[in-house]
Amino acid sequence: MCAKTIETKDISYETLLQGNRDWVKDMQDSDPTFFDKLSEGQNPPVLWIGCSDSRVPANQITNTKPGDVFVHRNIANVVVHTDMNMLSVLDYSVNVLKVKHVIVCGHYGCGGVKAALGNKQVGIIDNWLRNIRDVYRTHDREMETIKDAEQKFDRLVELNAIEGAANIMNTSIVQNAWSNGQELSVHAWVYSLKTGIIKDLKVTSSSLDDVTPVFKVS
Ligand code: CO
Repeated sequence: MCAKTIETKDISYETLLQGNRDWVKDMQDSDPTFFDKLSEGQNPPVLWIGCSDSRVPANQITNTKPGDVFVHRNIANVVVHTDMNMLSVLDYSVNVLKVKHVIVCGHYGCGGVKAALGNKQVGIIDNWLRNIRDVYRTHDREMETIKDAEQKFDRLVELNAIEGAANIMNTSIVQNAWSNGQELSVHAWVYSLKTGIIKDLKVTSSSLDDVTPVFKVS
């Protein structure tokens, strides 16, 4: 039997702890060795880089369990080469966990991308969202041809995921893994809040041949 779902408005400090106990019971009922096995170590084949948005939880939307996906999330799933947090996660995933896939997953309706499309000052976060404005500038010729505001928003969400995946490929971490013959693919996806469906943007890269020359390291 599944633990009962609590309405978001009724979530409290206590309900979270009760929810945890209910979940543990469910997991033990379906697999009595679940926690014993997981406590021995992790071997996830996937690194997920997604948005912090509460509606886009990596495990639930991919129907996976604890232990299946290594996760890094930030506002608007931004991937920039100066982010030590992201680089540390990527380095550990590729060089220690030996993940086979890195997935940058954006989502339509992303508040961070929407804020980057406007000119209103929000605060410290403007500096973070500036990276998305750089994505716009990189693709401004295409972006300026889109007149419909909703389509423009959707396309910037897609381009932000595509640029994020490209920035993953451009790291020495991924390029060295490829040089050493490690099996590793980098993907860009977008999740729809309206349908729950993930769209593969079909820009998967699996070798050094896919790296733009200016970013190649040797
Ligand atoms: Co978002």
